[in-house]
Amino acid sequence: MNPGPLVFLATFFALATSWLGFVVMPQLQIGRQQQVEIKDTGEMYPARRPGLAKQGEEVYRANGCYYCHSQQVRPLGFGTDVARGWGARPSPVQSVAQDYLYDQPVMLGSQRVGPDLTNIGLRQTNEVWLLSHLYNPQLTSKGSTMPPYPFLFMKSKLALGEKPSPNAVFVVNGPKENYEILPTDKAKALVAYLGSLHSEAIVFETPPFPSTNAPAASTNAPVIATATNSVPTNSPAK
Ligand code: HEC
Repeated sequence: MNPGPLVFLATFFALATSWLGFVVMPQLQIGRQQQVEIKDTGEMYPARRPGLAKQGEEVYRANGCYYCHSQQVRPLGFGTDVARGWGARPSPVQSVAQDYLYDQPVMLGSQRVGPDLTNIGLRQTNEVWLLSHLYNPQLTSKGSTMPPYPFLFMKSKLALGEKPSPNAVFVVNGPKENYEILPTDKAKALVAYLGSLHSEAIVFETPPFPSTNAPAASTNAPVIATATNSVPTNSPAK
């Protein structure tokens, strides 16, 4: 018997099912998402990033921040992301496709050498902290394995008695020289991007935690504080 037609059919079937599964089905499920109105606030979600933050997205990508930082908070039951306070939604479901509508490219990340940054804009609002941390992570997080990014900053000498600029990240008054560290436009844009990272809006796919009045189903159930109340200021990956 000539096996040709059978091989052809089997190959066709394999390719067709994977195309249906990996292309057509996701497109039907999430392919046509649009901005939605948040009922409580009347705001549209997700919002487009303001211009500076959009430029910062490019700095984030160009410097490979996504190699060590993810931007996807796994739902309750998959790891301990919610317990770590990385999720900002009062829901067992955290990151959803809707969150990435205006991200191009989407930088989900694959490894977590550092903490997830999905909600860093809520967790760390101190710009000077963020700038100092980028200039040299050791300044803010002793023992950090994050690389320093001094090339995003300028060193500017200060004459004796000269006042530092208002946007100086920090000033060094050494025995030999006085100088200040100023952020470049790239550093400012990157910090604006980090500030724009937050996914706390409650959308259709993120139902609230089941009512706590209901009798506990199992005594082994993990105790989870409401995510919004437990967002720490600094939570290095453990
Ligand atoms: C080699 C891995 C690595 C790379 C690359 C890296 N980071 Fe980090 N990052 C870390 C680690 C580890 C920590 C936790 C310790 C600390 O705070 O420094 C961290 C912490 C942070 C924090 C604080 C998070 C929090 O929850 O407090 C921010 C913000 C951050 N990184 C931003 C960036 C940005 C922006 C870039 C790209 C310019 C970057 N990181 C590149 C490893 C990395």
